[in-house]
Amino acid sequence: MSRARSSADSLRLREPASLTEEEAAAELAALAEEIAAADIAYHQQDAPVITDAEYDALRRRNTTLEERFPALRRADSPNAAAPGAPPAAGFAKSRHGTPMLSLDNAFGVADFAEFAARIRRFLGLSAEETLRFVAEPKIDGLSVNLLFEDGQFTRGATRGDGTVGEDITRNLETLADLPRALPAPFPERIEIRGEVFMTKADFLAFHAEQTALNAERERRRAAGERAGEAVRIPVNPRNAAAGSLRQLDPEATRRRPLKLFAYAQGVSSSPVAETHSAYLDTLRRWGFQVNPLSELLPDEHAAEAFQARLAAERAALAYDIDGVVYKLDRLDWQARLGFVGRAPRWAIAWKFPAEQATTELLAIEIQVGRTGALTPRAIMQPVTVGGVKVQHATLHNAEEIARKDVRVGDTVILQRAGDVIPQVVGIVPEKRPPNSQPFVFPETCPACGSHAASAPGEVVKRCTGGLICPAQQVERLIHFASRNALDIEGLGIENVEQLHREGLVNTPADIFRLKDHRATMQRWDRWGSGGKATRKVDNLLAAIEARRQPSLERFLFALGIRRIGEQNAKLLARHYGTAASWRDAMLDARVVGSEAREALGGIQGIGPAIAEELVEFFAEPRNLAALDDLLTEVTPEPAEAVAEGALSGKSIVFTGGLETMTRQEAEARAEALGAKVVKSVSKRTDYVVIGTDAGSKATKAAELELTTLSEAEWRALAGFPA
Ligand code: IVH
Repeated sequence: MSRARSSADSLRLREPASLTEEEAAAELAALAEEIAAADIAYHQQDAPVITDAEYDALRRRNTTLEERFPALRRADSPNAAAPGAPPAAGFAKSRHGTPMLSLDNAFGVADFAEFAARIRRFLGLSAEETLRFVAEPKIDGLSVNLLFEDGQFTRGATRGDGTVGEDITRNLETLADLPRALPAPFPERIEIRGEVFMTKADFLAFHAEQTALNAERERRRAAGERAGEAVRIPVNPRNAAAGSLRQLDPEATRRRPLKLFAYAQGVSSSPVAETHSAYLDTLRRWGFQVNPLSELLPDEHAAEAFQARLAAERAALAYDIDGVVYKLDRLDWQARLGFVGRAPRWAIAWKFPAEQATTELLAIEIQVGRTGALTPRAIMQPVTVGGVKVQHATLHNAEEIARKDVRVGDTVILQRAGDVIPQVVGIVPEKRPPNSQPFVFPETCPACGSHAASAPGEVVKRCTGGLICPAQQVERLIHFASRNALDIEGLGIENVEQLHREGLVNTPADIFRLKDHRATMQRWDRWGSGGKATRKVDNLLAAIEARRQPSLERFLFALGIRRIGEQNAKLLARHYGTAASWRDAMLDARVVGSEAREALGGIQGIGPAIAEELVEFFAEPRNLAALDDLLTEVTPEPAEAVAEGALSGKSIVFTGGLETMTRQEAEARAEALGAKVVKSVSKRTDYVVIGTDAGSKATKAAELELTTLSEAEWRALAGFPA
């Protein structure tokens, strides 16, 4: 997401006409990479990383640039690739015997009537001729192509781009619903197609299990323990089925509760039946599951009643369906009708509207996440929507609530579109109780009372009381002690939780005061008894004492300020040198437009958005108090660059433009390293940094035979990353 954003941002800044060839080439390279990554995430991992709009913007930008710089078009240009989903790496390709197509949609009686009329016109049928359709529930799962040779299942593939899919034979073999061999008679070679899916109940259980696993992974990582990264949890049964089928390890697929309904055929070496309904009977005889609700309708007018009946039954079904597929029963007619584009003329998917229900909104609760995000949650009179009982729904953020004008006491319209978490799509205005009040989003965190703010360009409000907010405290403490932060051995999740529960540790500074509670801790059961407890407590206290002089960068990272990860902590440490000068600069930087604020935002790699997060942290007086309290306990080591004083006592002149940093940043760094920045060149000048378009100062430096530095040399001298 962030990479796509970054280039989307730069798109807005640069007119194609103003780009040099070099810049355009660099951007095209970045675009090719970003679009490919987005394609993989979407098609192969079933976990989109950017929105459709962002994706379209990237592609448009790519096309614009290619049009303007045709010579720069890359071999791996996103426009060169065939649209669709190429097979994922890790699976072999599998070409379908006949293409796997999609279906046109109908949204009402009129659409369906038009579909039937088109068939009549095409086949030249009179009004007296009866059109019989097979109606089949449309499950939104993953379509698969199953090849049987001599009656044996030999290969199975995903749909892929419709022509070539991924070979997932081994994974499909783990499905109980897939017959390995067909009872005779059967064609020598036949492709059978169907849908792999998860039931609603199985999906909900899977979702809950994955959520719990992720929470555990996150906790372990926060504590610096080895743990896999949190995985993206599928939001609906379709994504869950798709992800499950694409496991590289078939045993992983076996553990997923996947089901299969068969419903179509691909290539066949000899005809199986004369009608689709007879074909479905054959599939049943071969041992496939065919959806029991599939039905041969007496004529085209029966479709409306079937549609209505299924819409009514829909919520009670074990699996999500989003419509009904109607297929012309006579296969000879199907063959004559053929295809337009990628869809058959003989079938249509008549979609249902999204499942909705109304209920009363009892309260809007603000939850504070582990990272301080304030999320409004609707608490509702329990109601069943789409077969799933719900009483909570996310309201996303303040903007969303205001836009929909959702108020406590309102009757809200809930919608489930296959996803676990239903959405509040709107309210029923006629049912609004008199004297209801617009919802006022809190300005403060409900857990700790700190100011809540949203970062520029973000709608999410966050609690700024990072160090003192109880909703975040345990996580912050675990982070503080974790391996890449202060690395306090023995202070893992369980110990932090207990110390917090017992009230001994609320803020990081409290950790360093634990030595005053030695006796209390030794009495705790889980520390063992007698000598064992003593030893454990002693070890922990010794580990804590050993961390009273952390490096400045670890210290800054340990504070857990939003967006100050290890990399940014390092940049800050190098720039400010000591905890005291960092702290003082941050206080000054609270004033927008101040020199300190400009300098902070000007640090290469930091920028205004991160500056804003730092300032937010310092705007909360209790954070400052907690920081100062901590600084009475620990003394961070000054950052290396300053301690070295690489430039102490030297005079330095900058001339010309720098490309990787602002002049202001360069000067600030030089000063932080002990140099004196001067404006004019003289024989007393130690260094002259020559940027682009440097003028007379460069000439003079040459005349005086002074030490001159290129920008790269300056970066190296000042300890910036190469
Ligand atoms: S027949 C040429 N039958 O819907 C016709 N598709 O929009 C090919 N689907 O990719 C499809 N239930 O994933 C057919 N009973 C059914 C279906 C069904 C679900 C899905 C399938 C297909 C998509 C087409």
